[in-house]
Amino acid sequence: MKVDVLLGLQWGDEGKGKVVDVLTPRYDVVARFQGGPNAGHTLEFDGKKYVLRSIPSGVFQNEKMNLIGNGVVLDPVLFMEEAEALCQGGIDLKHSLKLSRKAHLILPTHRLLDAANEQAKGAAKIGTTGKGIGPTYTDKTSRNGIRLGDITENFSEKYTTARNRHLTRLAALGATPDSEQLAQLEERWMKAIEYLKEYEIVDGEYAVNDALAQGKSVLCEGAQGTMLDVDFGSYPFVTSSNTVCAGACTGLGIAPNKIGDVFGIFKAYCTRVGSGPFPTELFDETGKQIRDLGHEYGAVTGRERRCGWIDLVALRYAIMINGVTKLIMMKSDVLDGFPTIKACVAYKINGKETDRFPYSIDSDKIEPVYVELPGWQTPMSAMTSESQFPKEFNDYIAFLEKQLATPIAIVSVGPDRTQTIER
Ligand code: GDP
Ligand code: IMO
Ligand code: MG
Repeated sequence: MKVDVLLGLQWGDEGKGKVVDVLTPRYDVVARFQGGPNAGHTLEFDGKKYVLRSIPSGVFQNEKMNLIGNGVVLDPVLFMEEAEALCQGGIDLKHSLKLSRKAHLILPTHRLLDAANEQAKGAAKIGTTGKGIGPTYTDKTSRNGIRLGDITENFSEKYTTARNRHLTRLAALGATPDSEQLAQLEERWMKAIEYLKEYEIVDGEYAVNDALAQGKSVLCEGAQGTMLDVDFGSYPFVTSSNTVCAGACTGLGIAPNKIGDVFGIFKAYCTRVGSGPFPTELFDETGKQIRDLGHEYGAVTGRERRCGWIDLVALRYAIMINGVTKLIMMKSDVLDGFPTIKACVAYKINGKETDRFPYSIDSDKIEPVYVELPGWQTPMSAMTSESQFPKEFNDYIAFLEKQLATPIAIVSVGPDRTQTIER
């Protein structure tokens, strides 16, 4: 049995949650392999909308095992809020969800450090989600982290050591927290730690490999997107984990030769939240129109998403790094009304054209080379099959498949589960 991976090819918010939910009936296990509550994965069905942050998007389908892998960083308080809301909505999470004991915990002081680090960076700030992601992964790689498995062994000692180290760092940054405020945060956090004990805490690597040995199928759900990968993204304006396909191996304990299909998901245009380069960003009326039509506001922070045309240079790069076998195009309906649609096929840097993603992605120096295609100017959100696609839309798909040398297997024409068309 192979493991399939679904991940974002752009700067996040491609629509991963929606498609994982749609594909879940075909799998036995759905597993998150990296990131934390910086993610906001939106699902819509039966007239209801859900936003998941740490919990895999497979929890709405019965009899599936959902796993939070070792590569994830978990905030107990946010997990408790998210899980309790789902349980109240009738989801039997305590039965279906397993947590890897090697997942690292986000402490209250990690969040304070995230804010203080951003403050210290001034104009160079990353525009993080403020969820403590960077400091938690920093502690992981510097071998100072606290893992979920630690909550049952000398926990209070481990917690105090970590918290005191953080407080020293916060003081150096001039961001010592008010002691009463910290005490309140800690009280809630400790309560949430007790709540975590109500869940099955497992050796995630065995859970997933045992499932495979029993002939079960696994879908790995990525968070963020390839251009936010700590190694291959637009560094330093990235998140702190490996969002690429290889991250599914390290974030779950899956051997590379077990990977089957890699679903690469992208929007028919492009968005980005936070700071950092974005070569095809639009600062004009068209950018604003895409934001309004696509409701491009962050699911976690509510921030405006920056919008622009599709960037095929970045997409080709992302397809290469991830070994994408099938593409999924989202939010096609957002471009319904545009008379023409642009696609960036190359970058011009210092007057020289390149189809390679450069080391230094200074969008001021990158001039996107666009191809302009006719728009379909037909509402697509009620369409249910490929046979209904207008000619111009089929032409757009054919153009993208040729440019990206990868088939587009699924087209999404609206936020609802049902607005998904397989080709
Ligand atoms: P994720 O982080 O990759 O799961 O994506 P988000 O949930 O942050 O952002 C995607 C947004 O687009 C959500 O609000 C979805 O409900 C919405 N969405 C997903 N697919 C489509 C689509 O095909 N058309 C439209 N109009 N909205 C979509
Ligand atoms: P999903 O899974 C879009 C961005 C932040 C910031 C940078 C670093 O919903 O696609 P962090 O808090 O991770 O240290 O922030 O990464 N970012 C996302 N942008 N979607 C996300 O997740 C994101 N998670 C982080 O805006 O620029
Ligand atoms: Mg999102």
